[in-house]
Amino acid sequence: MNSFAIPRSVEWRETHITILNQQKLPSVTEYIDLHTLEDVHEAIATLKVRGAPAIGITAAYGLALAASRYETEAVDEFQRRLQQDRDYLASARPTAVNLFWALDRLVAAANSAASVNEAKTSLIHEAIRIQIEDEDVCRRIGEYALTLFRPGDRVMTICNAGSIATARYGTALAPFYLAKEKGIELSVYALETRPVLQGARLTTWELMQAGVDVTLITDNMAAQTIKAKHINAIIVGADRIARNGDTANKIGTFGLALLAQSFGIPFYVAAPLSTIDIKTKTGADIPIEERHPDEVTHLAGVRIAPEGVNVYNPAFDVTPNELITAIITEKGIVRGHYETALPSLFAKEEQYETI
Ligand code: MRU
Repeated sequence: MNSFAIPRSVEWRETHITILNQQKLPSVTEYIDLHTLEDVHEAIATLKVRGAPAIGITAAYGLALAASRYETEAVDEFQRRLQQDRDYLASARPTAVNLFWALDRLVAAANSAASVNEAKTSLIHEAIRIQIEDEDVCRRIGEYALTLFRPGDRVMTICNAGSIATARYGTALAPFYLAKEKGIELSVYALETRPVLQGARLTTWELMQAGVDVTLITDNMAAQTIKAKHINAIIVGADRIARNGDTANKIGTFGLALLAQSFGIPFYVAAPLSTIDIKTKTGADIPIEERHPDEVTHLAGVRIAPEGVNVYNPAFDVTPNELITAIITEKGIVRGHYETALPSLFAKEEQYETI
């Protein structure tokens, strides 16, 4: 099976949205239909759909779906309800900026429409556009990222920044799919990613389907694996990149960046421009989601810690910009000087090579 056979995580069906239930993978491949705004909110909050771009795409369809049912001809009433529903969906998760980026893109599209009917159509078209663009963007990220690796390289990653976390291809995993297409052998070492195991459940599942060489390790095996298996580089996705390059990604990413520095290997972040939040100055301004203690006290539904234990469960951490060798985007690879280089990416119409 090649990478194109990997299922899409989100599909627009006119009357509802179908998502691949990422909570149940890999033991069960289940698709669920989302019919209401509440369904969409719940699916995002409970990680049935997850990964920054996939969250944005799902929320965009959710808002377009809800708005298609507003029974008003008055533009101001339509816009008021749209804003209310936008705010509700935006409350599903706080860290991945793609959620807000996608919702705000939809609101802007609707607000420039001359009538309610036109706004309803614009919303659906804009949501579809976001998904189509993301596939293209991820492929471009993969092409740039692939230039950073040599045949035979062993690369470590955490969480799932793969095809099902995006429209297709993924961000951090995109170079491995493209390498496979081009017959270049790369090996991936995937951290299991406690507490909810996106690495063990999703990254290995995706890469194995595409025939990419992947080895699973637990999170606490990272240092030993870098040393013993001669890891050449670490590549991760991102949930939000501040203007200065500080990057929020799945908990454990910061530790990997410190290990990369200590071992003298490159630490790469692969992310679309939709994940770069120019309005957020530094990582200190990024809200870090804290999730339910059950994710830590339980493993696959089975309690593994004493009842009543204190739990701290941050879903993300922030890697300071100085630990990031390069940020790989659809418009090129940025190496350092993020404060000026990242904003300038938005001004570039054309793609360009390394800056
Ligand atoms: O909590 P999750 O599973 O949504 O966290 C996802 C990540 O941290 C990913 O690395 C990130 O969203 C990039 S997905 C292309």
